[in-house]
Amino acid sequence: MPHKPFKAVIPAAGLGTRFLPATKAMPKEMLPVVDKPAIQYVVEEAVDAGIQDILIIIGRNKNNIANHFDSVPELESTLERKGDHDRLAEVKHASDLADIHMVRQGEPLGLGHAVWRAKGHVDDHPLAVLLGDDLIDERDDLLKTMLAEYDKREATVVALMEVDPAQIHLYGVASVEPTDDPDVVRVTGMVEKPNAADAPSNLAVIGRYVLPPEVFEILERTKPGKGGEIQLTDALQELAHDPARGVYGVVFRGRRYDTGDKLDYIKAIVQLAADREDLGPELRPWFKEFAATL
Ligand code: G1P
Repeated sequence: MPHKPFKAVIPAAGLGTRFLPATKAMPKEMLPVVDKPAIQYVVEEAVDAGIQDILIIIGRNKNNIANHFDSVPELESTLERKGDHDRLAEVKHASDLADIHMVRQGEPLGLGHAVWRAKGHVDDHPLAVLLGDDLIDERDDLLKTMLAEYDKREATVVALMEVDPAQIHLYGVASVEPTDDPDVVRVTGMVEKPNAADAPSNLAVIGRYVLPPEVFEILERTKPGKGGEIQLTDALQELAHDPARGVYGVVFRGRRYDTGDKLDYIKAIVQLAADREDLGPELRPWFKEFAATL
């Protein structure tokens, strides 16, 4: 039987402590990456993959996320009066993007808990979870591929990427077996943020998941794990061990920008701006000159 349409869930309830003091009164998801808030890239990615219904899980100080996706008539009429059509189109684009809903997490009990809070809205639809710290280049079709694999294999799908062993302790890590497709592996187990010595592989879960609605029932009884938080990784581990369900990993070899900490955030902005038609031609030679002075 065909399943109901996918819904997207974007957890954005973290405290953003790594970006203090910038995030004291503003959510980290609203930090600009070049000229758009980080969360808009993620919403656009879901929309590009064909998902129209998007739920953002928010926490304290997150009201300006909602404001960003609302229309602002006075701003629009000012831009219209000035004849600034390009900016007007950009401003309207953010509010016309998709059908965006919000739910509050209430307490910051972990990523698994944040996703579980989507239950009332998502109900019996399959869901794509997108974490805002990982931006995927719009030229790479990761989420579309994952949705297709979910349909083909009738199983949970996560995005995996090879990472340096020195970084592995920052991620959920999968143990895997090959499939007939070199870009898809079967996940046999998952562990949240292991030490490099205990990591089952160098394949880290990057922040994209396509999940069956049954995940809510699993999350509901998932006990706090690593760091005392309810971990999505632990619920996935249960799905991976269930022979009737299973978890597959799409191995991503494309362009990913990590905006999770200050240094990676700066690198992401430089990389994205250098590639842009409006900024790249001036930025690239300046950057070369600047780099020569270092
Ligand atoms: C979360 C997940 C982790 C995953 C990572 C991807 O961790 O818990 O399994 O690998 O996102 O970015 P966080 O970065 O929120 O600590």
